[in-house]
Amino acid sequence: MTTHATSALPGSNTARQSLGEHAGPASQIITGKARLAGVIGWPVSHSRSPVLHNYWLRRYGVDGVYVPLPVQSGTFEVAVRGLQAAGFRGANVTIPHKESAYRLADVLDDSALQAGAVNTLIFQDDGKIRGLSTDGDGFVASLQAEGHAIRSGTRALVLGAGGAARSVAAALLRHGMDVHVSNRTAARASELASALPALGVVAWDGWENRLGDYSLLVNTTSLGMEGGPDPMFSPSFAQAGAGLVVADIVYVPLVTPLLAQARERGLATVGGLGMLLHQARLGFTAWFGVEPQVDDATQAHVLGSLRG
Ligand code: ATR
Repeated sequence: MTTHATSALPGSNTARQSLGEHAGPASQIITGKARLAGVIGWPVSHSRSPVLHNYWLRRYGVDGVYVPLPVQSGTFEVAVRGLQAAGFRGANVTIPHKESAYRLADVLDDSALQAGAVNTLIFQDDGKIRGLSTDGDGFVASLQAEGHAIRSGTRALVLGAGGAARSVAAALLRHGMDVHVSNRTAARASELASALPALGVVAWDGWENRLGDYSLLVNTTSLGMEGGPDPMFSPSFAQAGAGLVVADIVYVPLVTPLLAQARERGLATVGGLGMLLHQARLGFTAWFGVEPQVDDATQAHVLGSLRG
């Protein structure tokens, strides 16, 4: 059963506030009946998922634990079957296993079918493995959480044509937006458009000049990322309409040069941390039976780990 997080569970915010506590959540409960989940990746040490999920477990007083699972290419399936046999409820999946997870899952949600990848595995009671892709819906939820309604028929421009672009574009299409994609390597943009037939393609050269046609711009490339190919990526917004919302899925730094430039022009912006937090909610709810909130305290906790 799914319990909504606002109920006063032991260790919940409500419970703690009534006790006048302002420090971090109470200590984690891990008994012999603890619910188990984790994140499978290689490398996995950079993943913020353990910090986030264990924060929520403490906050909502759930008897459970979420662990990093370093699994190399070639051993993904044996690892997943082992976790299933060991009583895990499921796992998140990150680089380089998202396509393997897609192939392994017995049941795929629409989100996974459209993304062509799986980032969340749920081990069902009937022994079947359900695969979801929560990145795109996490992105949409992060927009909505900042007060940006997704209106059917409005236009979005997605920069990039990798896995992240595909998840985001598919989610925006599911919400009825008219979505175009632009990528440095045109062939990859065309491939993406074959996978998502409703998607339009815009040339990489001069995409800035077409911004007036769009109400949402999303950067899904690694441009602007600290340590990435062009950390100073900051195109011109001269042609943007006043209502353009500019989103970046890069969250290191939290305010990318793209977002800083958009803010300077008075445009609304949405950073990448919200997507990271929101994409985790579906898995947590399925494994641990509580629907967690993404709020300031959650953001502050994960931010602390990013800086630490
Ligand atoms: P992911 O699956 O996480 O989205 P990816 O498949 O490596 O990652 O995609 C990275 C994206 O960043 C691609 O769209 C890539 O463009 P190409 O398909 O042309 O490689 C884009 N990207 C990376 N470096 C870039 C650069 N210097 N200029 C423009 N785009 C770049």
